[in-house]
Amino acid sequence: MASLTIRKLDEGVKTYLRLRSAKNRRSVEEEVRIILGELVEGREEPLTPFAIPSAVPTPQRAASVPEASVTLIIGGGIAAYKSLDLIRRLKERRIEVRCVLTKAAQQFVTPLAVSALSHERVYTDLFDPQSEFDAGHIRLARECDLVVVAPATADLLAKMAGGHADDLASAILLATNRKILLAPAMNPLMWNNAATRRNIGQLQRDGVVLIGPNSGEMAEAGEAGVGRMSEAIEIATAAERLLRPPVPRPLAGKRVLITAGPTHEPIDPVRYIANRSSGKQGFAIAAAAQAAGAEVILVSGPVDLGDPQGVTVKRVESARQMLEQVQAALPADIAIFAAAVADWRVANEGEQKLKKSSAGMPPLQLVENPDILATISRLADRRPPLVIGFAAETEHLIDNAKSKLARKGCDWIVANDVSPATGVMGGDRNTVHLISRGASEIAVDSWPVMTKEQVAIELVARIAKSVADKSREPAS
Ligand code: C5P
Repeated sequence: MASLTIRKLDEGVKTYLRLRSAKNRRSVEEEVRIILGELVEGREEPLTPFAIPSAVPTPQRAASVPEASVTLIIGGGIAAYKSLDLIRRLKERRIEVRCVLTKAAQQFVTPLAVSALSHERVYTDLFDPQSEFDAGHIRLARECDLVVVAPATADLLAKMAGGHADDLASAILLATNRKILLAPAMNPLMWNNAATRRNIGQLQRDGVVLIGPNSGEMAEAGEAGVGRMSEAIEIATAAERLLRPPVPRPLAGKRVLITAGPTHEPIDPVRYIANRSSGKQGFAIAAAAQAAGAEVILVSGPVDLGDPQGVTVKRVESARQMLEQVQAALPADIAIFAAAVADWRVANEGEQKLKKSSAGMPPLQLVENPDILATISRLADRRPPLVIGFAAETEHLIDNAKSKLARKGCDWIVANDVSPATGVMGGDRNTVHLISRGASEIAVDSWPVMTKEQVAIELVARIAKSVADKSREPAS
C-alpha cells in the first residue's frame, strides 16, 4: 500500500486530524489508521469536506497553521524540565513538535505533560508494536524538518558518535536524513571529559549543529562551570534559524528607482506610437531588488504585468509622464533605467480622432522626447550615486553600448542584443553584457544566456557588491 504523507494533505483535513488525534491522545498517523479501519468496517461516514468541524482554518487564518515540524528527543537529565518550555517556544513559532522521551527522560518529565504541551502522542519505545507497525522510528526520523535533542546527555552524545541504535532516540538519530540540533546538558566534569570531547569533535565533523552548553550553576549544590543546557528560547531561536534561514538583505536601507516597459506617445485620443517592450526585465529587477531588502519605486509604462509584491508602482503612459514620476521619486541610491522610452513623440497631437480625408494622410510631426537616463545622470544635486542604463541594440552591441555610457553619463550599461532572431523583446530570456567604468578603462562583462529573472538577480547581486565596496572606501 502506498504510504500517506500527512503534511501533503489539505489544510482543513490536517486540522481536523490534529484536533481528533489530540483529543484521543493519539498520533495523527494512528488517527488516520483508525479512521481508515473504521471506514473499512463501515463504522464511520466517509471523510468529506462537510465533516470538517468549524475549526477548519479559513484562508485568513492560514498564518496560524504550522509550517515546519521538529522531532524533539528529550534525554534524561535534570534540564529535561526546560524542554517542556521548549515545546511551547517552538509551537509559538508555528513549528509542530513530536516528542520522543528516552527511558531516563521519563524519570524527569512525564509523557503526559509532554503530550499535553505538544498536542501529540509521545513516543518512548522502539519496540512499541503500535508505532512500529509501519516503521515508526523511520517516520519520526524523516517526517520532520529538523531533529532537536534537548537535553543531549553525555550518554546520548556517545551513542550518536558511535552510531548505536538500541533505543528509539538513538535509532531515530541514526536513521534521520534531516539536520540535527543538539543542546548538550551535563556536569562540567562530564563535558570536559576526554571521551565527551572526542564525541563532540566527531559529531561536529558529521555536520551536527550544537547550541550551548552555557556556563553557570549546576543542579548539583555548589557546582558551576560549562554544562548548563541553553535556555528554551535560545534553542527555539537556533532551531528556527535552521528551519527558516535568514534571507540575506544586502540592499536593506537603500532606495532603488527603476523604469520599465514601453511608453505610449499619443497621436490622437485613440492612437499612439509604441514599441514591443514587455516590461518583464524591469519588473524582474524590481522584484529582485525588493527581495534584497531595498525600498523600490517602479515607474512603468503600459504593460500587462501585475505589481511586484512590496514594490511601489507608478503607472504612466508617455515619456514626459515617466520623467515627471522619476523626478518625483528622487532621491534614490540606485536608479536603473530599463524602460524602452520612445525617442520621439508627436508634436501636433490631435485633440480629436484624426479622420481619413481626401486631402491625404495627416502629417505627423515628431519631436524628441526628454532623455530620462541622461537627464538624471547629469543632475548636479540629486544624482543617484549609481545610475544604470540599458542598451537594446540590433548591431555593434558592445561599441554602441560603450558610446552610450559616455553619451548618457551613467555608470553602468546593461547591453542586450534585441535583433528579432534573439527573441529578447517580449521573450523570457536575455543575453546581456554589463559595461561599467573601471578605474582606468571601460570593463565589459559578458553573461551567459539567462532568464530575465536570473539577469535581475545577477544584476542586483552586482549592485549589492558595488554598494558594499563603496561603503568600505574611506570617506574623502
Ligand atoms: O538611446 P537609447 O534609447 O538606446 O538608450 C537606452 C537607455 O536610455 C535605456 O536605459 C532607456 O531606459 C534610457 N532612455 C531614457 N529616456 C529616453 C530614451 C532612453 O531614459 N528618452
